[in-house]
Amino acid sequence: MSRQELVEQAVKAAANAYNPYSHFSVGAALLSKGGDLFVGVNVENASYGLTVCAERSALFSAVSAGCREFSAIAIVASGDVPPPPCGACRQVLAEFCAGDFEIILATIGNPEVTEVYTLDDMLPHRFELQ
Ligand code: THU
Repeated sequence: MSRQELVEQAVKAAANAYNPYSHFSVGAALLSKGGDLFVGVNVENASYGLTVCAERSALFSAVSAGCREFSAIAIVASGDVPPPPCGACRQVLAEFCAGDFEIILATIGNPEVTEVYTLDDMLPHRFELQ
């Protein structure tokens, strides 16, 4: 699957974002090394801190399906700038993804313009339990 196709899947998923508090939509499309696709959205909660980000929704869905090896994630959001994943999501992605794992960012409004990073770019010196 191309980067652009992965972004399109994230845009499609973002339509299901549950965001009655922030009104900010985030969609994520996670590609496994075997070519399987898992999507996620932000799921907010009246107790704000219990909100789950789109990236972790996608990852937990994949792990729940027995998948643990990934090559890329596309993340899109409803703002004017491509949405860098929060620090918590970076660390959770690092549990399953190698340094060359691709993180592709775009906005829902302009999904043709993408930014591409690796996990090494986004979370250097990450914690690993020795
Ligand atoms: N959000 C994500 O889904 N992913 C991130 O990496 C950062 C923030 C969501 C959580 C909340 O529903 C909304 O964006 C505003 O913070």
